[in-house]
Formats: sequence, structure tokens, C-alpha cells
Amino acid sequence: MPYRSGRHFLQIPGPTNVPQRILRALSRPTIDHRGPEFAELSLEVLEGLQRIFQTSGPVIIYPSSGTGAWEAALVNTLSPGDKVLMFETGHFATLWRNMAAALGLEVDFVPTDWRHGVDPEVVEEKLFEDRDHRIKSVMAVHNETSTGVTSRIPLIRNAMDRANHPALLMVDTISSLASIDYRHEQWGVDVTVGCSQKGLMLPPGLGLNAISEKALLASGSAKLPRSFWDWEAMLTANKQGFFPYTPATNLLYGLQEAIQMLEEEGLQNVFERHHRHAEATRRAVRAWGLEILCAEPAEYSSSLTAVMMPEGFDADELLALILKKFDMCLGIGLGKVKGKIFRIGHLGYFNDLMLAGTLSGLELGLSIAGIPFSKGGADAALEYLKDTLR
Ligand SMILES: Cc1ncc(COP(=O)(O)O)c(C=O)c1O
Repeated sequence: MPYRSGRHFLQIPGPTNVPQRILRALSRPTIDHRGPEFAELSLEVLEGLQRIFQTSGPVIIYPSSGTGAWEAALVNTLSPGDKVLMFETGHFATLWRNMAAALGLEVDFVPTDWRHGVDPEVVEEKLFEDRDHRIKSVMAVHNETSTGVTSRIPLIRNAMDRANHPALLMVDTISSLASIDYRHEQWGVDVTVGCSQKGLMLPPGLGLNAISEKALLASGSAKLPRSFWDWEAMLTANKQGFFPYTPATNLLYGLQEAIQMLEEEGLQNVFERHHRHAEATRRAVRAWGLEILCAEPAEYSSSLTAVMMPEGFDADELLALILKKFDMCLGIGLGKVKGKIFRIGHLGYFNDLMLAGTLSGLELGLSIAGIPFSKGGADAALEYLKDTLR
């Protein structure tokens, strides 16, 4: 790679930019994970995560990526042959489905057009028809990172309650946690899956499960094989601030700093900041005359915006050009929409001028790539940012 002056723009929807404060925390000397100083640190971050997930129940931290936390949710609560209800909202929902099938679960996978979230009416219908309660869990990706569509979890919960069905509710919040309002306890979610490298502003390496009492009860009789992911061993050790195996000590320093930063800003302000940057981005996209992939305004994502390319133009080529000319990474289209869309990440450690730089880089890229579009998107975003300054 040629030498590049100035700062790289990492505007993929995760991993996100890691702030200096967190980088400094990560660089502290590693300590004995069986000593008193470590126990203090882990009890503090385990409690802090409860506030981030908005729950009074336990949160588990694995030294893993988000995929590990997906697996933990499944193997701790379900048994071979159990039926689960999932929705093809995009690439990540598909990967989670593939994992469930590989683990021996029977998946009812409801298709969507990748432009909408989980339809609560379908949830209600499917559960209502399931009179002998074969469906053991409903699983949803809160914010589908491949499409920029946010499913409405409270509506899914209400649909499950209307059908009076005992299935567990499991939710992937990998790209919404600490970016979009999410309430594990109030919304009656049984297992919430999260990870470190998005709204928490950390590098990859921590997988998270928030657990309800009902999920904990289900884990008592769940028969899928598990060892590394076993909640019981983890919860027992966590009570004293320890782990059943070597934890990712330095990432926990980073997590401590991240929780502090999120609380200094205030979680509600964090959500509002993401919402405002998402709206500014959508104004830019509309001014360019391009189409947002998410077809339902009530499901617009505050973490990222996926944009459809005009017919006959390849999104991957545009992003390669922007990387080469302006040292900025944007998210490529994944799975079915590869080459057809690009994704603007606006989550994590981010501010108005970072967004202005991101949108300006994109506008320059569209222009030099010869893509038909109208100028003025970055200006439209700036106008909105100015009007909504606090
Ligand atoms: C919504 C969602 N779920 C799951 C994953 C998988 O997480 P990981 O790549 O950390 O294993 C991702 C990764 O981007 C994601 O965005």
C-alpha cells in the first residue's frame, strides 16, 4: 500500500473507530486474572453491561466474536430437533439460520425482500397455528447490518404475547447495542446477543449474552452439547468476579472505559446522536437521487444506511475507488445484494464533522466514478446538522 497522510476513515458498520481513551486503556499491563484487582474490574464491567443492555439479569462475556455469542444463545437453551422461527431479514439472519440448522435445530425460515424487518403479524400467525408449542424460540436480528433495517422488537414481543405462546425470544443486537435504544428486560427478551466491535467502540473480541430468568430455566433442560459456551460454569465463576477460563483481560479494560464514556455522554444522548446522524445521512442520499434500501421509514437503522446503486453500476468498484483516492472504507454489499448496494456506517465513536467527511468523500467518489447522481447531498446533510445542533 502507498503511504497515506492523515487519518483513515473507517466507515464500515463495524468494527468501528476505537477512541484514544479506549486504546490507552487497552494498553495497560495485563494482570493476574485470578487476583483481587481483576475481580474488581470484572464485577464492575458485568454490572455496567447490565445498564447498557437495560436489564437487571446476568450478562455473560465471552472471549469471542459475535458468532460465538450466537452459538452460546442456541446451545444453552435448546435441544436437538427443537423447532425455531427465524426471519430472512438479510445476510446475518441467514448466517444465524445456517448455524441453527448445523446444530440440529429445525428452522422455519420466513423469507423477506431484504428491505423490511421481521413482520410481527407473521410472528403472531405462526405462533397461533403452533397449537402444540413445537416452536421453542423466535429469533430476530434487531439491526440487520447487511441492509440497514431495524426490526421492532416490542411489536414482536406483543405479537408473541397475543398468541399466548411460551417460546423464548432471542435477539441479535450486534450492531444496535449502545447505538439504538434497546431494552432487554422491559421488552421481555430472553437472550440478547451482542459483541464489542460496534456501538461499544472496542476492537473485536468480546461476545455477549444477556439472559432472562426464563432462559436460565430453559438452560437447565436444554440438551444441545456445550462446554466452552456453558452459561452455568460462567455464571458460577462470575459471581466472585472470575471466569472459568482465561478472559480477554485487556479488552475488559477497554470495556470499562467504553461504559464510562457511554455513561458520561448518557445512553439516551448516544441514541439521539445516532438517530440524528442517520437522518442527516438519509437526507444526503435522497439529495443525490439515490434510493435507501430500507423500504419502511419506521424501520430505518440509526447505525448504518444501505444505499442502492443505480442500475448498471457496481457498488464494489465505487468503494474500491473511494478507498484508493480518499482512504475511506465503506461497507460492501453482502450475500444477495453484493455489488448492488453500499453501506455507510455512522455508529460508535462519531461526530458531525466525521459524518461531513464521510459524506463528502462519498460525493467525490460518486462524481469521479461517473455515476449518475445529483450534487448537494453533503450540503443537505450539513444543513440538517446545523438546524438540529443542540
Ligand atoms: C447483525 C450481526 N450479527 C452477527 C454478526 C457476526 O458477528 P462476528 O462477525 O463478530 O462474529 C455480525 C457481524 O457484523 C452482525 O452485524
